Amino acid sequence: MNRPDSEAQQRERIRTTIHADADAACAVVAGELAALIRERQAAGRTVVLGLATGSTPVRLYRELIRLHREEKLSFRHVVTFNLDEYHGLPRTHPESYWRFMHEQLFDHLDIPPENIHLPDGTVPRAEVFGACRAYEEKFRAAGGIDVQILGIGRTGHIGFNEPGSGRDSRTRLVTLDALTRRDAARDFLGETNVPRHAITMGVGTILEARRILLLAWGEGKARVLADAVEKTPTDALPASFLQGHPGAAFHVDPAAASALTRQCHPWLVGTVAWTPGIARRAVVWLSQTVRKPVLKLLEEDYSEHGMADLLTEQGPAYGLNIRIFNELQRTITGWPGGKPDADDTHRPERAMPARKRVVVVSPEPSDDVLGMGGTLRRLVDQGHEVTVAYITSGNLGVPDEEAAMAADLVVELAGAGEETKFAQTVRRQLEAKTAFEGDTPEIRRLKGVLRRGEARASLQACGVTAPHLRFLDLPFYEQGRYRQFRAGERDVGTVATLLREVQPHQIFATGHSADPSSVAAVSFAVLRQALARTNGEAWRGDCRVWLYRGPDRDWAPAEIAMAVPFSPHELTQKIQAIYHHKSQRSQSPVVAAGLHEAWQQAEQHNRAIAVRYDQLGLAEYEAIEAFERFPDL
Ligand code: GLP
Repeated sequence: MNRPDSEAQQRERIRTTIHADADAACAVVAGELAALIRERQAAGRTVVLGLATGSTPVRLYRELIRLHREEKLSFRHVVTFNLDEYHGLPRTHPESYWRFMHEQLFDHLDIPPENIHLPDGTVPRAEVFGACRAYEEKFRAAGGIDVQILGIGRTGHIGFNEPGSGRDSRTRLVTLDALTRRDAARDFLGETNVPRHAITMGVGTILEARRILLLAWGEGKARVLADAVEKTPTDALPASFLQGHPGAAFHVDPAAASALTRQCHPWLVGTVAWTPGIARRAVVWLSQTVRKPVLKLLEEDYSEHGMADLLTEQGPAYGLNIRIFNELQRTITGWPGGKPDADDTHRPERAMPARKRVVVVSPEPSDDVLGMGGTLRRLVDQGHEVTVAYITSGNLGVPDEEAAMAADLVVELAGAGEETKFAQTVRRQLEAKTAFEGDTPEIRRLKGVLRRGEARASLQACGVTAPHLRFLDLPFYEQGRYRQFRAGERDVGTVATLLREVQPHQIFATGHSADPSSVAAVSFAVLRQALARTNGEAWRGDCRVWLYRGPDRDWAPAEIAMAVPFSPHELTQKIQAIYHHKSQRSQSPVVAAGLHEAWQQAEQHNRAIAVRYDQLGLAEYEAIEAFERFPDL
């Protein structure tokens, strides 16, 4: 068991460092690897590294490549063994881990090819067992693994050790979990294409490494990470077995750390400085924990839940209850753009100017309506000038069948013109396309057009009409692949130009704490840079940034700075707007938790926020869309 570094970390059973962001974490981890590589090199010895795939280690690999290029770090004496590989994919497949590792790392280093090892995903089923043994034998013969790099899956898996994998499991063939396959669906252009089996080092194999460094980024990993670090080890969460390893350390970003007790409930693990924000979080948590509305919380509820000092400082209980109740109450507004001519002292948004220019930034078409379709409609109805800016075309998310149908329509309607030729080309290309092959520029164009059409129809349902839609089609996406996007100057420049042109009073954005490799996070990073570039310009003095979230990301009521409630009818309208994104309908036959379609998730999400407000003792609404305020830059 690891000893915690501080009182606040007393529940943590694995040494966990929260870095400013993923890049800062990777600099530290790469630094540790580089020091070991250099030390061994000086002694004329090799280093054996265990490596991982997925989006998580990509930044680490970029940093290692930089160290190689700019700081002469040599990998000639490095031997590598990868954790896992899909079974049944040839090495050349774009999603094979063999290819991933070469493209993301090995091709850019001076590592000798014979030093590189990955499980062979092409061995016939009957020979897998022997091949797995031979793989283990190889790294044992190399002296065992010095440092193992790990990511973590949303099921809590490490490598491909899904829930149910025992502490002593060895390298073997495994069946992939439904959630894991769903997470891989985008890379494989559809869940049905994701292999069902993989070869992975076992938990026991991983635990034999002398040092284990696990990396995690983004809010999507927060829950599973906290459970792995703080809960009793169980095979229901294989990463929790790392608790028993004295050399295991986690390096995470603030979003992935957000469910650790020291981050989300610091009052349970020591004394805290009771800022208004923490006091609000604590009282909301107390109300939810003891299942009482805020105004009914008693002195003993506080003292029995580690919050006696809050009462000493800011009590008595009833006064504190009223204060927090009022704060929560004031987040609710039917006027997301501010209420004209009203006293706005306690309102989330300022009254003036009465008619605001608003930019809704949507990473892909559909993020806007999913996250804030109801609010969008309100803003338009209340006379604000709303522009929706789609950062990317979203064309990577369109299934081939949709594109084929659209091409056929054009051929049938357009006669002998250029459009028909284009559509016929697309049709031919689609037919010639082999499984998993990337799309041609023509196919991508048509898919992008499809998503534009859906976005227009969807927004029309929200009352936003054509002149106010901007399809930015940023190059980072058009030239990128999932998990490997890299934004550059042209991306930032385009967004900055749009902002300068509109000079918004309000910007609604999302993706601030998403996995940094996701489209949403890259889009948000581009927006931030564009904002940094426009700092000091006159319009910026009167511009607020609000953050919305997708339906897959929960809200704690205390995080909400603006809650926009809806009538049952308005909720129906929002759902209907989402329907228009037809190409985004789920393609999976597996119905997970009965909520597979995005519109179902959005409906449930907005209702759940309303229920939580109700339980705190606030008014009972049908549904709520929520927003955080992004700190002024
Ligand atoms: C896959 C890999 C794991 C990885 C996980 C998380 O399942 N086999 O090694 O940790 O995905 O992926 P990501 O880093 O993309 O979130």
